Amino acid sequence: MPIPEEFIQELKSRCDIAEVVSSYVTLKKAGRGLVGLCPFHNEKSPSFSVSPENGFFHCFGCGVGGDVISFIKRIENLDYVEAVKLLAQRAGMTVPEDNRHEGMAALKTRIYEANREAARFFHRQLYAPGGKEALAYLRKRRLTEKTIIHFGLGYSPGSRFELVNHLRSKGFSPSEMVQANLASLSRNGNPFDRFSDRVMFPIIDLRGNVIGFGGRIMSDIKPKYLNTAETPVFNKSRNLFALQFAKNKAKGRLILVEGYMDVIALHQAGFENTVATLGTALTQEQATIIKRYCDEVVLCYDADEAGQKATARAIDILRPTGLKLKILTVPDGKDPDEFIKAHGDQGPARFRRLLENSGNDVEFRLRKLRSRFNTEITEQRVAFLTEAAKLTATLENTIEQDVYISRLSEELNVEKNAIRQMVRKYSRYQNREYARKEQREIQRKISARDDRINTEKTFHLRAANAEEALLALMLTNADVAASVCPALSPERFMTSFNRKVYEVIRERIGRGADCTLMNISGVFSDQEMNAIAGMLASHPREPDPPAAAREYIQVLEDESQMLTPEQIVAADDQTLMEQLQKMKEKKK
Ligand code: CTP
Ligand code: MN
Repeated sequence: MPIPEEFIQELKSRCDIAEVVSSYVTLKKAGRGLVGLCPFHNEKSPSFSVSPENGFFHCFGCGVGGDVISFIKRIENLDYVEAVKLLAQRAGMTVPEDNRHEGMAALKTRIYEANREAARFFHRQLYAPGGKEALAYLRKRRLTEKTIIHFGLGYSPGSRFELVNHLRSKGFSPSEMVQANLASLSRNGNPFDRFSDRVMFPIIDLRGNVIGFGGRIMSDIKPKYLNTAETPVFNKSRNLFALQFAKNKAKGRLILVEGYMDVIALHQAGFENTVATLGTALTQEQATIIKRYCDEVVLCYDADEAGQKATARAIDILRPTGLKLKILTVPDGKDPDEFIKAHGDQGPARFRRLLENSGNDVEFRLRKLRSRFNTEITEQRVAFLTEAAKLTATLENTIEQDVYISRLSEELNVEKNAIRQMVRKYSRYQNREYARKEQREIQRKISARDDRINTEKTFHLRAANAEEALLALMLTNADVAASVCPALSPERFMTSFNRKVYEVIRERIGRGADCTLMNISGVFSDQEMNAIAGMLASHPREPDPPAAAREYIQVLEDESQMLTPEQIVAADDQTLMEQLQKMKEKKK
């Protein structure tokens, strides 16, 4: 049984969309609604709008939109039932009991439970006789008892059946163990432990769920780390190691490192604002998440070549988010964990100094750039200067720009003013380009060509626009909806998606049910809701709704008289003449 509609309605009426969105996005008043920077894509000028009156949000930039539940689904990366639960919690309501154990939501719950049980089991093993070596290993790596407990570190025995047996005794089925990626199936279908003889690092999400594990071998056997593969609850590209701790300690700044051990060593040393990716390169999604918790990121990857390449890639991903970037390079080719350990008691203080002296990303990139040119040769000096000016221009702060301008001037013995002019020129150019790019994106999203939901729109542009304006009107004005429905047949709609929306509205009106965007969200997919919210957002309130409705209906009447391109090809002369006549009249 799905969650009852009355419950959803009650929930939505208690969760003010402006209030919910405001806990993630800074909103400003604009007309009847609110606007802000879209949390789902990177932008500098706000194209994200919220309409408290109609209970929906919509981004003109990236096209996403919907009601308060769609918002939570997307921003918290939850499925429908989970989003409803979260909102219910917020509103002090209890989701009707029997819906909890259904389909995907039920499986996820089981996987969370299995993972939690496994984490407890691994942790206990660390203190069992079999875990002696693992415990010694962690101590050798200078982890304190407190750190081991704080991170819930553990040990997976080498037998290949102990976890499986334990989980079975706790009522988990082999299928659940396999779906949690805690077990694999042998050739004759018996489950066996996936992690064997490894030190275990539980990975925990922002709500405190154990979503997966990293397991480190204590010898030189490869792979050094084995991680949980993708499961229904574990998505490597949308989570960060230790963010559940770091988000509360960020104070505007997060440190991003490569490895689990780097995170743990830094937390132990007092840098609790440290996170790591989960054994993969930084993704766009992670960058968006990071942006939610800080304004500045210190990239502190390994000093080796791979680490430097990863730094350059991470800069490219983080820059467009508008986050301030600092690059911390650990000396002597060490990683942060090794560095802290190597300096014993002095480790934390030394690291703090590195942190304070870390340069921004422009510095890092200038250094890389510099190594590609021989500035003794005039042409190369000019080429370097041009590239360096472009880079310096990406700094938003002109005072900061001047620091680099002075440095370049001294270094290359070139007049400071000449460089400054060059930098300012590129600055202006880049800002213009950026604004243009955002504008083009918006145009592309609004234009029919990009409409993947209503694929027929291109062929019936005029009709489709009238359909959408009419639907928007009906969803925001109950009286108009009530008067249009009996009079207008769904056949008048030329594009089938809009017709479907109309049919849903009509059916609800027919049985006297309310019909706003909020009430229809259960029927449509996320993408479809994006499209419908888009219709509402692109059609502001009409001064005279009934008159506007009549006008749109008239357009639909006219358009339905027109022949389609296929019909024109197939038509005889007589029909074509009639058609021409109609078009002439329309022009008048
Ligand atoms: N990693 C992985 N699989 C591997 C190797 C590495 O998933 N086979 C990931 C892990 O998240 C690891 C990170 O990449 O923490 C960095 O790898 P590396 O620098 O090799 O390891 P360290 O973090 O330095 O680990 P340790 O100090 O334990 O050697
Ligand atoms: Mn290391």
